[in-house]
Amino acid sequence: MNVRPSQKIMLSAVQPSHQLTLGNYLGALKNWIKLQHDYECIFFAVDLHALTVKRDPAQLKEQTYQAVATYIASGIHPDQAILFIQSHVPEHAELSWILNCFTYMGELGRMTQYKDKSTQQGKNIPAGLFTYPVLMAADILLYQTHLVPVGEDQKQHLEITRDLAIRINHLYGENLFTVPEIYSPPIGARIMSLQNPQIKMSKSDPDPNGVIYLMDSDDQIKKKFKRAVTDSGQEIIYRNDQPGIKNLIDISCALTGKTPEEWVNQYRGKQYGHLKIETADRVIETIAPIRSKTAELLKDRNYLDALLKQGAHRAREKAQRTLSRVYDKIGCVGGRY
Ligand code: TYM
Repeated sequence: MNVRPSQKIMLSAVQPSHQLTLGNYLGALKNWIKLQHDYECIFFAVDLHALTVKRDPAQLKEQTYQAVATYIASGIHPDQAILFIQSHVPEHAELSWILNCFTYMGELGRMTQYKDKSTQQGKNIPAGLFTYPVLMAADILLYQTHLVPVGEDQKQHLEITRDLAIRINHLYGENLFTVPEIYSPPIGARIMSLQNPQIKMSKSDPDPNGVIYLMDSDDQIKKKFKRAVTDSGQEIIYRNDQPGIKNLIDISCALTGKTPEEWVNQYRGKQYGHLKIETADRVIETIAPIRSKTAELLKDRNYLDALLKQGAHRAREKAQRTLSRVYDKIGCVGGRY
């Protein structure tokens, strides 16, 4: 481990509510990997967040391992980053309660993810769905995080995290919490469903044809791209009123670093079919090695368990430092037994 103590903290997480998707990779993981050498890194699987919707317990356990294995398979260095499972560090739930006491119902009610997800729940909306962003704020503020790389859908949660940090710092002392910065990639921060380019590609989409899972076979990926819904035009252009084609170009850009103009020039005079097939090939080139490395890692549970135990230990040391300062500042008697 060669992390310098003065290094700034980068932190992020994925909810193990399903297999990870191409959206998770391009919007989040790819940037964790790109930035990991400039920060002390903390990455975890947020199993407590996953409980906000009913889950099959065995599946949740499996997907939690799968998330962490995917981080490593994608290129996170397990001997440098702190990798762990959220529920292994009870300080997250503790700080979350405290932050709940400083968060306003109005600001939580404005969260678009809450509005979307609570509509899907019908009548009995779990309170956890409402306070979800508070637990996320606790995840981040516990570690005095400087940078949080996320996709676009998480920006609102990051804003509330920043607001909470500023509010509490103002009340109890300027440097109780570091106010985190958000990093979202210029392209790839919002990958859309292949079946409905008006909605984001989401793990929980009931239509699996709209979603590329990182564990999909080459064949599945090819089929999904072939069936991708495109627009009624003929020409390959990059415009908001051609969202299906724009999404395929965005995916190619995020994978390769090329600009939309470069891809549009490359496809001048070609048909939609070319773009679909070749985007699928680009995706396979990136995903296939991640898929096989993830599968390999998942066979060695002892290795993963040892890594996660060590990660939780390292995380708790940092988390306890913040939490005991918070308890002290807000008026809870110190000295934990
Ligand atoms: P989650 O699990 O929904 O998504 C994980 C990451 O993937 C990004 N993402 C996408 N990016 C581009 N296009 C898409 N279609 C797409 N879908 C998802 C998300 O923006 C995210 O960066 N609440 C978080 C997990 C979380 C967290 C945290 C993140 C809990 N605590 C602390 C950062 C810091 C979530 O459910 O992400």
